[in-house]
Amino acid sequence: MLDTAFLTNLAALNCQWAEETGAVFVIFGATGDLSRRKLVPALYNLLKDGHLRKDFFVVLVGRRDGEKDALLQSLAEGMSQYSRTQPIDPAIRDALLSQVVYVAEDFGEPSGFSRLRAILEQRPLPLRLFYLATPSSLYPSILDGLSAAHLIGEHADADCQTRVVFEKPFGRDLDSAIHLNALARAHLDESQIYRMDHYLGKETVQNILVFRFGNSLFEPLWNRKYVSRVRIIATEDIGIVGRGRFYEETGIIRDVLQNHLLQIAALSAMEAPVSFEADRIRDERAKVFRAFRPLYADQLSAHAIFGQYDGYTDADEVAADSRIPTFAALRLFIDNWRWEGVPFEIIAGKSLGEKSTRVEIHFRSVPFCLFGKHYVCEKLDPNILTLRIQPEEGISMQFSTKTPGDTLQVSPVRMNFDYRETFSDKAQQEAYEKLLLDALRGDPTLFARQDEVELMWRYVAPLIEATEAGTVPLHRYAPGGSGPKEVWK
Ligand code: BG6
Repeated sequence: MLDTAFLTNLAALNCQWAEETGAVFVIFGATGDLSRRKLVPALYNLLKDGHLRKDFFVVLVGRRDGEKDALLQSLAEGMSQYSRTQPIDPAIRDALLSQVVYVAEDFGEPSGFSRLRAILEQRPLPLRLFYLATPSSLYPSILDGLSAAHLIGEHADADCQTRVVFEKPFGRDLDSAIHLNALARAHLDESQIYRMDHYLGKETVQNILVFRFGNSLFEPLWNRKYVSRVRIIATEDIGIVGRGRFYEETGIIRDVLQNHLLQIAALSAMEAPVSFEADRIRDERAKVFRAFRPLYADQLSAHAIFGQYDGYTDADEVAADSRIPTFAALRLFIDNWRWEGVPFEIIAGKSLGEKSTRVEIHFRSVPFCLFGKHYVCEKLDPNILTLRIQPEEGISMQFSTKTPGDTLQVSPVRMNFDYRETFSDKAQQEAYEKLLLDALRGDPTLFARQDEVELMWRYVAPLIEATEAGTVPLHRYAPGGSGPKEVWK
C-alpha cells in the first residue's frame, strides 16, 4: 500500500514548477510604474531566454477605470524603453502580450477575487505566483480577498503551488510589518512568502558573498583589526521623477535605507554561513541585524544627517512645507566580535552629482611612516577595496606605490576588475528577472525573511520618528552636488 507521505511528495513533485511546465503570474497594481519599468520587461526577457517555455499566462489586476488596450500599449512601450536586451523582438513582445488577461478591479471587493479565481480555474497550471505591487497599505485587503476566494490559505487548491511576492517596502514601520507578517503567516507558510528587495538580485550584490567567501585572501583582513571603516554609498542623480505622492509617504529611510542598504551592510558584515542554503544565509544576515547597535534619540545628531534637495517641494503632490528627507547619512555600529568599534557609514541620496552604488572597505593606515619626509607620509592613503555595485560594475583596490623618479614620492594607484571587460560575452541578468525566476523555482535566498524585515524596521524606527517629529535638522542641498555640507568626508 502506498503511504500518505509518498503521495504527498508525489503531489508536491507534480506541482513543482519547472521551466517545461507552466505558471500563472497575477500582478496586483499592474497599472503602476513598476509593472511597466521592471516586471513586464523582466517577463519579456525570461520568455526570450527560454525560461517560460511551455505554458504560462499573466493576469494583470489594475484599477477599475483602466482600459486593457491602453495598458497593453503602455506595457509594450515599457518593454521597448526598459528591457535589458535591445532592440525588442516584436514577435516575443507580442507573444507575451497575447498571454495577458486584464482584470480591472478594486481590491476591496470579494466579487473581484471570485472573478479572478474563475479566470485561474479556466487554465489550471502547476504554479500560481501572486505579485503584490500595490502600495503596501493594500496588502492586507489583497491577502484577505485571496484567502476568501480560496486562492491562498488552507482551502486553496492542493494540486497547485502558490507563492506570494510582496514588493518592498514591506509595511511602513515596525508595527505594520509585524501585522502584515502575522496576516501573511495566517494564510501562507513562510516558504510561500517572498519579500522582495531587488538589490539582493543584483549580480554585484550576489557577488559580495562569493568575493568574500570564495577567496582566502580577504577574509582574514575582514574585521576590526584591519578595517577602520566601511562606507556603503548609494547616490542617485535623479530626483523623485513624478513619484511625489509615493515619496511623501516614503522618504529616503523607508525607500532605500531600511531595505537595500541595510541588506548590503548585512552581506558585507556577516559571518560565513554553514552552507549556501537559503535559511543558513538568511540566518547570518539576521544575526547582523540583531547586532546593530540601537540608535537612541540623543545620539542621532552625532550619527545621522538628513537632507532635502532644493526644489523637492516644487514637485507635484509634494507638500510645500514637506520635511521628508531625500538624503540620509548614517553611522551604524555592529556590536559583535568582528566589527566592534568599526563605523559603517551609510550614505544615500537623490538628486546628487552621480549615480553610484558601492561598498568601500577602508583598511587601517600603516602603523608608522618610514619614509621620513612629511610630504611623502601625507600621501600614504589607506588601502581601500571598492565593490562597485553599479554602474561600471567591478572591484578595485587602492594601494600606495612609489612614483617613478629619483626622489621618493608615493601615489595611490588602483588595481581594477571590470565586469563588462572580463565577462563581455555574458549578459548580466536584471535583478527582477533573477528574482522572478527564483520565486518561480522556489528559492527564497535572495528574499528577506520575516525576522529580517522586522529587525530592519526596528533599527530605523528612531530615524523615522525623529525625522517625522522634526527633532533632527533637515539640511538643504543643491541638486547635482554631493549632498549637505555637514556630511562626514
Ligand atoms: C527603488 C526605490 O527601490 O530603488 C527608488 O524605490 C530607487 O527610489 C531605486 O530609485 C534604485 O534602484 P536601482 O536599481 O536603480 O539602483
